[in-house]
Amino acid sequence: MSHSMPVILTGDRTTGPLHIGHYAGSLRNRLRFQHDHEQYLLLADMQALTDNASNIAKVRSNVLEVALDYLAIGIDPTQSTVCLQSQLPALAELSMLYLNFVTVARLERNPTIREEIRARGFGRDIPAGFLCYPAAQAADITAFKATIVPVGEDQVPILEQTNEIIRRINGAAGKSVLPEVSAVVSKSGRLPGINGKAKMSKSLGNAIALSASPDEISVAVKQMFTDPNHLRIEDPGQVEGNTVFTYLDAFDEDRAEVERLKMAYRKGGLGDVRLKRRLDEILQNLLGPIRERRALLSRDLDYVEQVILEGTERAQSLTAATYAEVTAALGLFRFQ
Ligand code: TRP
Repeated sequence: MSHSMPVILTGDRTTGPLHIGHYAGSLRNRLRFQHDHEQYLLLADMQALTDNASNIAKVRSNVLEVALDYLAIGIDPTQSTVCLQSQLPALAELSMLYLNFVTVARLERNPTIREEIRARGFGRDIPAGFLCYPAAQAADITAFKATIVPVGEDQVPILEQTNEIIRRINGAAGKSVLPEVSAVVSKSGRLPGINGKAKMSKSLGNAIALSASPDEISVAVKQMFTDPNHLRIEDPGQVEGNTVFTYLDAFDEDRAEVERLKMAYRKGGLGDVRLKRRLDEILQNLLGPIRERRALLSRDLDYVEQVILEGTERAQSLTAATYAEVTAALGLFRFQ
């Protein structure tokens, strides 16, 4: 890993196995980037606690699950560094520092935080760690001096806030100690759940896991929403907002075939069953090899753990160096 390569940092909360929404939104980009970037993948177990403090066992057990997903899709530990957030003290140290460079009002205004607070039904009982996670995520990103962050669309406001914190730190330091970051959001946008709802999520029960069995994939595709007004095969059907077409757009590499299907569907005469057969085939082909690799790797969890350990050790020295540099640049007391 040469130091002239741009640095990428991204991460996932370890709350459950990853799904095809993660794949379309961000994992696919990470596969593409690992060859010509210095890429770090953070198993965000500490951030997972911000809304799972009462379920630490779940957060712990999903560390290996998410790591398995990474390796199964083709993340190569010789090209990407996989590391464990809770074992990187500099991230906590930087988080604490950054909390002084952000106001509670600004955190409360963050659209992602607002939406997530609503969705989780916290009411007035918002865990302080949850409200403050944008500052912690700024710490994650800047500790690695990342400039590129591949994330789902919902994370863009978090990155805007990261840049605000970076500008404040650089302002206070009187020099550019931290680089600003850009979000990389996938072109296909956010993948809806199989019920057409805006967000695919395991907890909403509308997801297809990367580790889904062939049957689970087929059942999900059968349940998938199409055009509710497309009752008879010969009727013209609607393509926009039709979940099956949204998925074909995201995963079918044969663009010409997708266009042909869209035309036939709009015209009438293409039934949902035939359409879904196509999507089922595409998803089986995508997930089959991932599932096989995952099964192989899950028989060698010592190897998976070793990958995380080595990555975490590498990340420890890097992030500690950034913390030292930032506190020095800000002019905090230093021992001679
Ligand atoms: N908040 C991200 C999510 O929920 C996970 C995450 C934690 C992350 N730390 C990060 C993403 C740093 C990008 C960079 O998906």
